[in-house]
Amino acid sequence: MQSRFTWINGAMVETSQATVPFLTAGFHYGVAIFEGIRAYQTPRGLGVFRLREHMRRFEDSCRIVGFRELPHTVDEMMEVVRATVRANGFGDCYIRPLVWLADGGWNLTLDTGKPHVAVTVWEESVYLGQRSPEQGLKACVSSFTRHHPNAMMTKAKVSGNYANSIMAKTEAQRNGFDEAILLDPQGYVAECTGANLFVVRNGRLITPPADAILEGITRDTVRALAGDLGIPVQESQLSRDHLYVVDEVFVCGTAAEIVGVSSVDGRPIGAGVTGPITRVLREAYQSVVRGAHPRSEAWIALV
Ligand SMILES: Cc1ncc(COP(=O)(O)O)c(C=O)c1O
Repeated sequence: MQSRFTWINGAMVETSQATVPFLTAGFHYGVAIFEGIRAYQTPRGLGVFRLREHMRRFEDSCRIVGFRELPHTVDEMMEVVRATVRANGFGDCYIRPLVWLADGGWNLTLDTGKPHVAVTVWEESVYLGQRSPEQGLKACVSSFTRHHPNAMMTKAKVSGNYANSIMAKTEAQRNGFDEAILLDPQGYVAECTGANLFVVRNGRLITPPADAILEGITRDTVRALAGDLGIPVQESQLSRDHLYVVDEVFVCGTAAEIVGVSSVDGRPIGAGVTGPITRVLREAYQSVVRGAHPRSEAWIALV
């Protein structure tokens, strides 16, 4: 993970200079909102995948948390992202916009502080799937529960939400798994620590409803690509035991992309390797992000 330049509150500075004072309320209370975006090399140059949708979700997350005024519009933030990517000069990279509560906010209200904004870029390393993509992930159902949407606002990508993810993933890895699957407060499958989840059963894709999850942009991309391929998709509640009997399980997210799950709680899924429908969707996803798919043009913002 390497980053050269960071745009912070209007100035492009060396990343080592992009510092935040210790006395910053957002840091103490987890009140920050972020996005995770990827840019890929394409035949027409470096392109940011679904930039507008990410920056809209960024704005939506800020509104959900309750910021009344944001310093920049979606269009301005898209321009800042492009400028920061250009400044860093990387090839494939990962982009991190962040808003945080600063200049006050110590009395636990947003209204006595201000939103500060930064965007940085780093050279991407593999996020999930350190084992080969064919092998898939060893997942477990977490002992931690995903947030109730009236407690932590799962549609908002709030930094504080990720304490839950970090505890779940740490526990999973200490127990020898690659990734944790979290259930919602009703006990149904929600999502992974930083990715959404799909299962394949009898040729049909099923994904949990949006109630207690982050509405992933990759989840939306997968639904569109599956539609193009004539694979039916439905949203419905999944119970833990569904995971044990379906033909395939995969997770998807901007950082994770599409990664198969080979086992859940030690029970092999299908043949215990990445399944055939997951493989087809992975290929379609790689083709769309790399600019080689009919949908690429609409979804890629060249920098
Ligand atoms: C908790 C959680 N769910 C789902 C996702 C997938 O979202 P997206 O596809 O927009 O990256 C992410 C990643 O951002 C996430 O952190």
